Amino acid sequence: MSSKSFKTMIVQETDTGHYTKIISQKTLDDLPLGDVLIRVHYSSLNYKDVLSTQGNRGVTRSFPHTPGIDAAGIVEESTSKAFRTGDSVLVTGYDLGMNTSGGFAEYIRVPETWVVPLPVNLALRESMMYGTAGFTAGLSCHRLINHGLTSDQGRILVSGATGGVGSIAVAILAKMGFQVTAVNGHHDRTDYLKSIGASSVISIEDAMDNSSRPLLEQKWAGVVDAVGGNLLATALRSVQRHGIVTTCGNVGSADLATTVYPFILRGITLAGIDSATTPMDLRCIIWGKLAGEWKIPQLNTIAKELPNLESLDKEIDKLLNHQRTGRAIVKVVS
Ligand SMILES: NC(=O)c1ccc[n+]([C@@H]2O[C@H](COP(=O)([O-])OP(=O)(O)OC[C@H]3O[C@@H](n4cnc5c(N)ncnc54)[C@H](OP(=O)(O)O)[C@@H]3O)[C@@H](O)[C@H]2O)c1
Repeated sequence: MSSKSFKTMIVQETDTGHYTKIISQKTLDDLPLGDVLIRVHYSSLNYKDVLSTQGNRGVTRSFPHTPGIDAAGIVEESTSKAFRTGDSVLVTGYDLGMNTSGGFAEYIRVPETWVVPLPVNLALRESMMYGTAGFTAGLSCHRLINHGLTSDQGRILVSGATGGVGSIAVAILAKMGFQVTAVNGHHDRTDYLKSIGASSVISIEDAMDNSSRPLLEQKWAGVVDAVGGNLLATALRSVQRHGIVTTCGNVGSADLATTVYPFILRGITLAGIDSATTPMDLRCIIWGKLAGEWKIPQLNTIAKELPNLESLDKEIDKLLNHQRTGRAIVKVVS
């Protein structure tokens, strides 16, 4: 009996070493073995997906490949005792969309250990409005709050704030009562940043110091950084005594030039965030908060919906050309 076919994005390498995206068909037999077959209702576009579509071998080793590190949908078949046909679930991270056929397709098949039951009070669509970016923002805010930061201790700096991780971090922290200073992107998006909860906005240039001074004025109680490079290095030198800086991204640079002085003279903490491998117990705690006390009213301002897989192409170009704000989710089932 022939296996069911379904719609999917496929990225392929051309003879000239370039990469093209096509919307095509695969069959269920093309999917990897796994415990849970999920009919994908929504996926979302993350920075890592863009890297995969560009042929970045640090993200995806071999092509043809279906990207999409996020997926939310309904269980269609399950050999796992934890999940039954008809359950609403989401998957973010692990190897999904990297070297495992991803969420830019009507079906994924994954190990049960990757699957999160959809939290109550969260629709499938809303879960992808957060997606990996929102989950990462949640992990970053969790680190700040667990560090003991309270809103009376000073301002929080969020970099990459016009993007996915940054926008959601701004909105969660504002909801928690923090005064948030957002770092703009390449274009002035002050109105957008204020509409999602930033109380002040600075430029990328203003957030970076080029001097060799090992310590700077103590401006921030905490920092959520998604940019890396000099912006992160400056944040380390500008955070208050015993403050905390989280690092999750490298859109600016993967380099980090620092001395030990912020650590040994101010006792600051640098906290690394890796959403993809977050253990399931913490994963469920963060998703519960995103659906509960942290649920942000600005989700519809931050995330827009693309009607189909075909529309991802233009959105990827926009992201590469610094022409978008917030996040994009994609409706996969028609
Ligand atoms: N560790 C993890 O678990 C994890 C999870 C999710 C994301 N990430 C990483 O976090 C980073 C942000 O992800 P995202 O999904 O939020 O990406 P995104 O939506 O593309 O947002 C990137 C943000 O950074 C800004 N930006 C880009 N280049 C910059 C530069 N050179 N200097 C300063 N700002 C710059 C962008 O502004 P413009 O649009 O104006 O350029 C935008 O505000 C990426 O590196 C991603 O790989 C890591």
